[in-house]
Amino acid sequence: MRNIAVAGTGYVGLSTGTCFADMGNNVTCIDISEEKIAMLQRGEAPIYEPGLNEMIVRNMKAGRLHFTTSYDEALKDAEFIFICVGTPSGVDGEADLQYVRMAAESVARAMTHPLIVINKSTVPVGTGDWVADIVRRSQPEPIDFAVVSCPEFTREGSALHDFMNPDRVVIGSRSPEAAEKVAQLHLPLRTRIIMTDLRTAEMIKYASNAFLATKISFINEIAVICEKLGADVQEVAEGMGFDRRIGAQFLNAGLGYGGSCFPKDVKALEHMALVHGSHPSLLRAVIDINRDMRRWAVYNLRDLLGGKLDGKKIGLMGLAFKPNTDDIREAPALEIAHMLRNEGALVSGYDPVAMHNVARVDKHIRLAEDAYDLATGADALLVCTEWNEFKQLDLARLHGVMQRPILVDGRNIYEPARMQAHGFIYRAVGRAPAATNGD
Ligand code: UDX
Repeated sequence: MRNIAVAGTGYVGLSTGTCFADMGNNVTCIDISEEKIAMLQRGEAPIYEPGLNEMIVRNMKAGRLHFTTSYDEALKDAEFIFICVGTPSGVDGEADLQYVRMAAESVARAMTHPLIVINKSTVPVGTGDWVADIVRRSQPEPIDFAVVSCPEFTREGSALHDFMNPDRVVIGSRSPEAAEKVAQLHLPLRTRIIMTDLRTAEMIKYASNAFLATKISFINEIAVICEKLGADVQEVAEGMGFDRRIGAQFLNAGLGYGGSCFPKDVKALEHMALVHGSHPSLLRAVIDINRDMRRWAVYNLRDLLGGKLDGKKIGLMGLAFKPNTDDIREAPALEIAHMLRNEGALVSGYDPVAMHNVARVDKHIRLAEDAYDLATGADALLVCTEWNEFKQLDLARLHGVMQRPILVDGRNIYEPARMQAHGFIYRAVGRAPAATNGD
């Protein structure tokens, strides 16, 4: 049993803290938001992540998981502190490190004994050294500490499973002793542990996310070519994926990536490269293609609706950036809603869990009760998020309530032949119109 503090109770901090508590450690999570901490102390997770709430309550009851707004309290007995605060995009795409700075300063002021400071937030290469500087300069009196980078690779929606079953744990530090102690913490996970230096660990995180984003933009570019040439991208991806050098994952063509990581991290890496005089042309293409997929949706809706969107009622199926999360950061649906409205369309949306978040940021989307309510009177539907409940819909009923049976499938969740059999005018990503329109 180790004493661990975790700064930041977003997706990364909460899943990290809760999983370490579940592994038998004594964990205290800190957040500057009193509202969030009050919720957590009542046993309520402020975010939706499958299994998280149950795990929080279980570990609180076992006396292993605590929440506070006080660094003094959290660091009283802590040997480790994980920094898991947000690193949003700044104006030029650079990572905004104000929260990391605040956390590092608070740690420096509150620590009373030697401490290992672990960066889990995705931070630009070199931030570990910068954090060490801040801690050193902000300490009222010198106390030993070491900075370690241990990037997270968990996906929202399966954060707990990913944390407990990682493909690898990456640990980078200038201090071999500190790195070894952090490695010990991860031993129960029985996985490969990669020990490296601080900057390389930080770069592994960016390079991994940028590579996955590149895979997505790659298959999206192929999808658009497939449409022109009459090939089917789903089968192309399957055919490619069996090659172990390529791998089957992250080859789902669609409206592109969103969320809190890929858009921000690819931009931040591009920015780092530019600042240091490189020409990150591949990263730029990845970003451009991703933006083009949002345009792909608007183009196809316009095309199927006779060249004009003005006054057309369009329903967005799914608003979260991906299924099993209520996170709408950089969600394709919201960008597309904006673009459609610019052309005069009347946009409504439905999502199984993310609507409360949408209501806060976009007052113009009419929110529907369910998919059938969304479809009622609609001129077209657009699948933005591949929620399972959309795969099970009663298609005859859906078709029956629509004004026009147009469905653009931005996530390729339906079979073209089945949609045609139900009378839909159906278009999917990377599946040739000749095949999908039945002509
Ligand atoms: C990602 C990384 O997977 C994770 O390792 C990192 O720590 C944080 O960023 P996350 O953002 O939760 O995790 O979602 P992920 O499941 O990776 O999907 C990212 C985006 O890519 C989503 O918008 C998803 O819809 C999209 N995507 C994913 C595709 O468009 N096609 C695919 O084949 C896979």
